[in-house]
Amino acid sequence: MKALRFVFLIAPTIACCGPVAAASLPPAGAASCSGCHALHEPASSPIPRIYGRDANEIVTVMAAFRDGSRPSTVMGRIAKGFSDEELRPIAAWLESQK
Ligand code: HEC
Repeated sequence: MKALRFVFLIAPTIACCGPVAAASLPPAGAASCSGCHALHEPASSPIPRIYGRDANEIVTVMAAFRDGSRPSTVMGRIAKGFSDEELRPIAAWLESQK
């Protein structure tokens, strides 16, 4: 009887939330941004917030950092390590984070 109750309580929980949790996992490369751009940055942080920002805007800004048309201290070098194809899923994931 105890085992049966376990199945009824736990199984629906896994069925309900498994795919949602998997969908919110950061894509490859996204974790390298959060070292500097923390999700819950204090308002006083000198590093701009990038979470919840429009994905197209992030890709555009990264391209400008990459070709040097947007001045930066570190982002120019970081942007050179990512192609637009790699950035799109990262930007979409960042946009989905609030
Ligand atoms: C070494 C720390 C560091 C890492 C890692 C880093 N950033 Fe940044 N980011 C900065 C800093 C500092 C700025 C301000 C511009 C500058 O001085 O380079 C910035 C600015 C930005 C901006 C412009 C925001 C604005 O409002 O002007 C975007 C977009 C951005 N970063 C995206 C990313 C993404 C995407 C990644 C991961 C691929 C990333 N950053 C990784 C430090 C970092």
